[in-house]
Amino acid sequence: MLACHECIGIIFLFVFVLQLDGVATVPCGFPPRYGVLRETSEEFCVKCAMESFEDKSLQTLRMLYRKYAHEIEQVTRDARKYLLSGGSKPAQNTHVELEISYMRAREAKPNSLLELSTGPRAYSTFWLLEAIRRNGVGKLYSFDIHDAGYKRLKRYFDGASISATPFSPGSHFLEGQPQLEFILGDARQTLAARNVSYDFLFIDTLHDPKFTQWYVKEVFLNSVSRSDSRSDVFVAVHDVYSLTQTSLGLGMSLNLKESTPEGKVVLSFINALPQVVPPASVYALHLETFPEFNAKVMRIRRSETGRGCSRQPLRKGWQKKITNSCTALTLFFTINSSALSEYCTV
Ligand SMILES: C[S@@+](CC[C@H](N)C(=O)[O-])C[C@H]1O[C@@H](n2cnc3c(N)ncnc32)[C@H](O)[C@@H]1O
Repeated sequence: MLACHECIGIIFLFVFVLQLDGVATVPCGFPPRYGVLRETSEEFCVKCAMESFEDKSLQTLRMLYRKYAHEIEQVTRDARKYLLSGGSKPAQNTHVELEISYMRAREAKPNSLLELSTGPRAYSTFWLLEAIRRNGVGKLYSFDIHDAGYKRLKRYFDGASISATPFSPGSHFLEGQPQLEFILGDARQTLAARNVSYDFLFIDTLHDPKFTQWYVKEVFLNSVSRSDSRSDVFVAVHDVYSLTQTSLGLGMSLNLKESTPEGKVVLSFINALPQVVPPASVYALHLETFPEFNAKVMRIRRSETGRGCSRQPLRKGWQKKITNSCTALTLFFTINSSALSEYCTV
């Protein structure tokens, strides 16, 4: 006889699996028999996971900041120069979240990195390429439906304008940076057509829940289960958490702890994951959702790098002026590919 909370868990997981697939089959072996969700609240479960990993996460972040502090300073300078060369405002990632992705890529030395998507400024692309360059190993596959970011990177590295030649769909390699392959087109078609496996995933793309369901299934389940690495695949998903300050007028504002619609799909996936493939780490530094964890990490960051950051809540339009915010809208976690592949039927 099942306890009531187990029944709710089974129903929840089953509905989630059906939603991912759109038909009544179980994708990539997430059968309900492998476990039930203990909680139905996504936020709460991720919080539980974060609490159980907290000491390990803090230890890892201290080690990373200690080891890579000097590099981060240099990359931040170069990244700023790169952004200013295009005369643009900062990108919609804070330094904190990009430097954590950079350090994870340095430490893991992945062979095959996926970036979804490049974006119009290719700012995250720049940071990931810096990590690959210093690693001396790895290749970045960056996908976008537009090529503005790729053109911009190319102009920067080649020092030449290429705007006279419009791109046709397909792959483009950046001369002098052979470790980047840019793939132009709708990732729903281009990614499936390539059949590459990845061991590092950087997701900052279309914020539509249906699109999120697609990448959870195609990238997190199918692609990771095919990964050659047979170990932990590092994942960062931007915009799981939202800008949380809403103005009420008369100088008053309301702070909300909110995951985004995209975030809710990703958090549901994370909730199901430990039942099948326990992740080796899960953490997020969103200031309003995890203020204590954020403060601990920022103390470590300051003691290892000497750098402070702004604790102002992010408002609409924040990216015009602040990149040095303490917060991060990203969820960082790992998926063990060999454990996952045992459950996959692909
Ligand atoms: C927020 S931007 C990425 C910013 C980038 N990570 C950076 O740091 O500069 C999101 C990108 O997703 C791209 N995108 C939207 N729909 C897409 C699709 N179906 N396939 C591939 N890329 C898509 C958009 O063209 C846009 O450039």
